[in-house]
Amino acid sequence: MSKVKLFLASELEVNEIRQVELDAREPIAIYNLDGEYFATDDTCTHGNASMAEGDIDGSEVYCPFHMGAFDIRTGEATVAPCSVPLKTYEVVIEDGYLFILMED
Ligand code: FES
Repeated sequence: MSKVKLFLASELEVNEIRQVELDAREPIAIYNLDGEYFATDDTCTHGNASMAEGDIDGSEVYCPFHMGAFDIRTGEATVAPCSVPLKTYEVVIEDGYLFILMED
């Protein structure tokens, strides 16, 4: 398991999403959901859309391409045409910085 340092948690506003590019991995989307931080794969499971360009509504993120949606906390697909869940990652905060835990 790797712990990957991202950026200061205070840089991400409430209900903001940021795409993070990582070496040799698909990009990740980081969410600030009312002060709680979550991470999922950034690429929609329905097509080649960046979820970081989507919109948060409640605890769901809506894809900018076809308006399918996922639960940000679990990755579960909640609105068609999305049916395959987004992979999620554990987020921890240390010394004000966000980290995600990823399998090697
Ligand atoms: S690409 Fe995301 S809903 Fe189609």
